[in-house]
Amino acid sequence: MPTRRKIIAYLATSADGFIGRSDGAVDWLDRPWPKGAYGMPRFMASVDTVVMGRKTYDFGRAHGTVGVPGKRTIVLSRSLRAEEVEGAELWRSVPRLAKELRAGKGKHVWVMGGAEIFGAFLDAGELDELILNVVPVLIGEGIPLLGPKRRTRELRLRSTRRFVDGVVRLHYELSPPAATGRGGRRRRPRRSPA
Ligand SMILES: NC(=O)c1ccc[n+]([C@@H]2O[C@H](COP(=O)([O-])OP(=O)(O)OC[C@H]3O[C@@H](n4cnc5c(N)ncnc54)[C@H](OP(=O)(O)O)[C@@H]3O)[C@@H](O)[C@H]2O)c1
Repeated sequence: MPTRRKIIAYLATSADGFIGRSDGAVDWLDRPWPKGAYGMPRFMASVDTVVMGRKTYDFGRAHGTVGVPGKRTIVLSRSLRAEEVEGAELWRSVPRLAKELRAGKGKHVWVMGGAEIFGAFLDAGELDELILNVVPVLIGEGIPLLGPKRRTRELRLRSTRRFVDGVVRLHYELSPPAATGRGGRRRRPRRSPA
């Protein structure tokens, strides 16, 4: 039976919970990758679509890389015009995009970030899984993984993995959004663990 297509956020954070410095810099991610490259090749083989926010797109463009070669690349923005976007599709609405992605057949979808887009998918109830590579470094200030306005969401820990260089991968499944939450996609509640 084919696997259900999932929308998966996969990001790296500092040990103090930032995805980038305040100016967006991710120099603290520039470190030698251990053998196996944190399992990235396997993850990359499981996705055919990459979704990013406009600021991540801008950052990639400024550094000469937009998206991942061979994968459908999507940028979310309300300010960009279609003719300004190169090497990616432009979408303006997370719920509409998620609906299209879930209706289509294919491999899983990687929500690459940044934090705003991660929060937007979370708030829309459109994330199935969250994979965090926690890098053993404190950077003191920056862009938090989740902005302070977000509500509480339960996560189910699926696996952890410690890599030789001290990076820890936390792999979570997301529970349905709370019934009182804004804009959440209602799903049938899971049974209580008791
Ligand atoms: N550590 C990591 O794993 C990782 C991963 C990815 C990125 N990053 C870093 O994160 C930084 C950027 O993150 P960020 O959180 O500041 O920005 P971001 O999420 O990349 O982009 C934010 C932009 O996305 C658009 N957007 C946000 N919500 C939207 C919605 N609901 N519908 C449509 N468009 C929406 C808006 O674009 P408009 O303003 O154009 O409307 C908004 O300004 C970059 O510096 C990058 O290097 C780190």
